[in-house]
Amino acid sequence: MTTPKDTNPELAMSGADPAAAREFFPPTPGLPPVAPRMVQRHGKEQARRERAASWCSPASSEPIHAGTIRHTNPFGDAGPNPAFVRAPVPGSDAGPTRLPAPEFAHVPAASPKDTVGGYHAARIPIDAGTSLYATGEQAGPLLRNGRSVACWAADVPGYTDTNEGLYQSHPWVVGVRADGSAFGILADTTHCCEIDLRDTIVFRALGPAFSVVVIERDHPQQVVEALAELTGTIEMPPKWALGFQQSRWSYDPAARVLEVARNFREHRLPCDVFWIDIDYMDGFRVFSFDADKFPDPPALGAQMNDLGFRVVWMLDPGIKADPEYPLFRDCVEGNHAIRAADGEPFRGAVWPGLCVFPDFMRAETRTWWADRVVKFAEDSAFDGIWVDMNEPAVFSPGGTTTMRFDARHDADEDLGGPGSHERYHNLYGMQMARATQAGVRAAHPDRRPFVLTRSNFLGGHRHAATWTGDNVSDWDHLRWTIPMILNLGLSGQPFAGCDIGGFMGDATPELFARWMGIGAMLPFARAHSAKGTKDHEPWSFGEKTLNTSRRALERRMRLMPYFYTLFHEAATVGTPVCRPLFFADPANPALRDADASFLLGADLLVRASVDEAGSPCPDPMPSGAWRPFVLEDPDADLPVLRARAGSIIPMGPACQHVADGPDELTLLITPDEHGNATGRLFEDAGDGPEWTDGERRITEFRLAAEGSGHRLTLASTGWIWPADRGVRVLVLTDASTTPTDRGALRLDDPAGAILPA
Ligand code: GLC
Repeated sequence: MTTPKDTNPELAMSGADPAAAREFFPPTPGLPPVAPRMVQRHGKEQARRERAASWCSPASSEPIHAGTIRHTNPFGDAGPNPAFVRAPVPGSDAGPTRLPAPEFAHVPAASPKDTVGGYHAARIPIDAGTSLYATGEQAGPLLRNGRSVACWAADVPGYTDTNEGLYQSHPWVVGVRADGSAFGILADTTHCCEIDLRDTIVFRALGPAFSVVVIERDHPQQVVEALAELTGTIEMPPKWALGFQQSRWSYDPAARVLEVARNFREHRLPCDVFWIDIDYMDGFRVFSFDADKFPDPPALGAQMNDLGFRVVWMLDPGIKADPEYPLFRDCVEGNHAIRAADGEPFRGAVWPGLCVFPDFMRAETRTWWADRVVKFAEDSAFDGIWVDMNEPAVFSPGGTTTMRFDARHDADEDLGGPGSHERYHNLYGMQMARATQAGVRAAHPDRRPFVLTRSNFLGGHRHAATWTGDNVSDWDHLRWTIPMILNLGLSGQPFAGCDIGGFMGDATPELFARWMGIGAMLPFARAHSAKGTKDHEPWSFGEKTLNTSRRALERRMRLMPYFYTLFHEAATVGTPVCRPLFFADPANPALRDADASFLLGADLLVRASVDEAGSPCPDPMPSGAWRPFVLEDPDADLPVLRARAGSIIPMGPACQHVADGPDELTLLITPDEHGNATGRLFEDAGDGPEWTDGERRITEFRLAAEGSGHRLTLASTGWIWPADRGVRVLVLTDASTTPTDRGALRLDDPAGAILPA
C-alpha cells in the first residue's frame, strides 16, 4: 500500500480534523529533512567514499563475559550506552573467538553542502554459508541476508517488505554459520543507523564513533540469551496478559465495549482482555474522557472485571497545545516538553491537532508522567496501558513523519546528557514505555505491570510488550507475521504479536480464520482492526470462521501452562518464546529460511499454511521425531501442531479466561524411542511481585521406561506439590494423532506412579 506524500492514512481514518492536524511549524531552511536515507546512500559515490576511507582495527577489545567482547572504536568511544548495554566486567576472560575483530572508519561528508556531515561505519566479514537474522522489526522473510535495515523508528501504516525500517530500532544482527555455531553483533549507538547485510555486515550511523559488542556462542539460542545478559530480560507478565485479547479502533461508547465483551462469552470464545482505543478521550486529549461516551470508566472496568475481562487503555505522547488544557500548561510550564532548535517547545500535529511532546529522556519528566498514570488508574480503573504513536509519530506534509533532527532533549546524564532529537529519536518509545511502566507499577504495587508499546529500542523489552503495528488484512501480511515475530524474538523481544486479522482493510472469512489459528500461538495474541473497516469479531465472518476461532483460542487456553512456563524462561534466561526452526538443528541449512513454521519453546512445533490456496506448510522438518497431534475437532484452517518425541507438555482446561475454571493439570507425554520423556511446569499466583521470592513452584516431570511399563515422577521446588492433586495423562505415539487418555494419576509419592496401560 502506498502512502501519498502528505496524506497519512491513519490521519485519514481517524476522523481528526485534517486541517488542524496538518498545521505545523514550517521547516527551517538549510536543515536536513528527517529520513534514514541520510545514511542509506547506497550509490556508487558512497561505495567509492567507503573504499577511500581508512579502515582501522579496534582501539581495544575488552571481554565482557567469556565469548562477549566490546571492540572500542579507534575514532572515539563514549563508553557503553547505559540505556541498553552493560559495561565490561573487570577480569572477564574473552574465551575463544572465531569472528575477526570489526574494522572501523569515519566516512567524511561528500561536500560542504552535505548537511548530514558524514558518518561512522563498522564492518565485519562473514564466512560463506552464514545466515543472518534479527535486526529488530521489519516485514519480509526471516533470513535477512542481502537486505538493508534502517534503525530509525517510523510510523509506517500499511508497511510492506520494501520499507527499510518500522516502528522499532534494534542495531543488532544474529549470524548462524554453516556449522551451526552462532554470533551476535551489536552496534552501541542510538543514532540513526543502517544495518547493511547486502554483502558482509556493515553498520553505518550518524553521530559520533560507536563501539561494537560481539557475542560468540556454540548455538544461536545461547547468543540470544547472552544478549539478555547485556540488555536484561522481560518482567514476568501477569498471567491474564497471556490470554487472548480483543481490540478495535474503537469500541465506543462504553456500552459497545460491554456488548462485544458479552458476545465473546455468549459465543464461548476464550478472551481475557479488552482494549480501549483513542476515541474514549475528549478531543484526543490524553488522560481525559469523553463524558458522553465514557461517563464512568471505573464502573465500566468493574463490569468488565465481573465478566472476567481486564481492560487496557491507550495513551499517546502528544499533548494537545490547548491553553485551556491543564496538562498542556503543566507540560510546558514544568519544562517537560521537548524543545525545537529555537528553544521553544516543539509543536507537531498528531490526532488532536498541534501538540507538544514530553521529553521522556528526563527522569523528572518520566516521574511527572508516571504520576499522571497513577492518577489515571483512579480515573479509568485500568488493568494495563497501551502506548502508541511513540516513534514519535508527527503528521505533517511533505513525507516527514516525526520530529526534526534538531529538536533538543534535555536528557539525563546517565542516558548521555542533553542532545539532539537525531540522537534520542530511537529511544523515545522505549523511554515512554519506561515512564508508563513506572506509573503502572506505582498505581498497582501489588500487581505486575502490563504495558504495550508500538515503538521501542534494543533493551526496551524490559518495559513493555510489543506488536507489529499497522499491518494490512491481506495474505502478504499474514505470511510476514511469523518471520516478524521470530526476528523480534531473536532481537531480545520475546513478548510480541501482531494485529490478528490485519489492521487496515477488510479480512475475508478465510484470511481471518487462518490468522486466528496462527495468532493464537504467538506470545502476544490480540485481534485489532482499524476505523472504517467492517466488523472483525469472529462471529462477523460466519459460522465456519467462528468455529475455527473458538478452536484456535481453546488451543491457546489448553496450552496456557506451557506458555506460562515459557514466559518464565524468557523472564529469567532471555530465551525467546517463539523460536525459529533452526534452533532445533542449527547446522541444517534447509531450516535457515523456514518462514511458515516455528517452535514454541523446545517441545512444540507449529506448522502453518500461509497462502490463500491453503497449501500445506512448505518448510522442512528438523531432525528427530516430531509427532503431529490434535486436541480438538480437525480443522484445516488451524496450524498443525507437533510434539517433540521425548517431551512432556503441561496443559490446562479450555476455560474462558485464565482465572476461570478448575486448576486441572494435563500432561501431554510424547515418549522417545526408548520410552523416556521430560518436561517442566512453572506455577505461581499469576500476578503480584512474588514470582521470584519462593511463592511459586517449578516442577520437573520425568517419564522413564520400567520393565514393560513406564514410571512418571516429579521433582518440584518452591511450593509443596499438593498431595491430592490429580494429573491427567495423555500419551502421544506414532499410532494416532489423537493422544490416548491414560486417566488421572496422583504423583505425590516420591516414587511417582506407573502409567496405567
Ligand atoms: C495507530 C495504531 C493503531 C491504533 C490507531 C488509533 O494507527 O497503530 O493500533 O488503532 O493508531 O489509535
